[in-house]
Amino acid sequence: MSAGRDAAAFAEHGHTVTAVEPTVELRAHGQQLHGHLPITWIDDSLPDLNRVHATGECYDLIMQTAVWMHLDLDQRERAIGRVAGLLRPNGLMALSLRHGPVPAGRRMFEISATETQALAVRHGLVTIHDSEGAALQGGPGVWWSRLAFRAQR
Ligand SMILES: C[S@@+](CC[C@H](N)C(=O)[O-])C[C@H]1O[C@@H](n2cnc3c(N)ncnc32)[C@H](O)[C@@H]1O
Repeated sequence: MSAGRDAAAFAEHGHTVTAVEPTVELRAHGQQLHGHLPITWIDDSLPDLNRVHATGECYDLIMQTAVWMHLDLDQRERAIGRVAGLLRPNGLMALSLRHGPVPAGRRMFEISATETQALAVRHGLVTIHDSEGAALQGGPGVWWSRLAFRAQR
């Protein structure tokens, strides 16, 4: 797992980046890997992202790569509004959804792109990208949906 991969890519291009990671080992790994980059790390978790909200910051882009499928339906219904509330006007939110066999011992849910779009639209997020593709990570039988939304406010 490449903790902080997205954060590092954006920081390398000069963007101001906040990385949110609730798992202490992954956060430490990401901080070690990318310690040379100006990334603000926050120990926080979906669905509420209370610490992120407490900063008062809003964002042009929120990436949730390979995260959303770890949330159950109640959490997803709560999380979408909390994430939408962190976007600037016309801000973007992108996420990927893993499909296929769930590794033993992992908490993961099968979530459709359609469900995710339906949740998003309730919070003013309009779909601007919807694609499916083979696994970059995950192994045999695994495939991914990739979605991006724009805040209409
Ligand atoms: C499959 S890894 C993906 C990590 C990274 N985004 C990537 O693409 O390599 C899943 C990530 O989701 C995080 N995660 C799981 N449940 C979460 C939650 N409730 N809130 C925030 N992050 C969560 C894990 O800590 C882990 O970093």
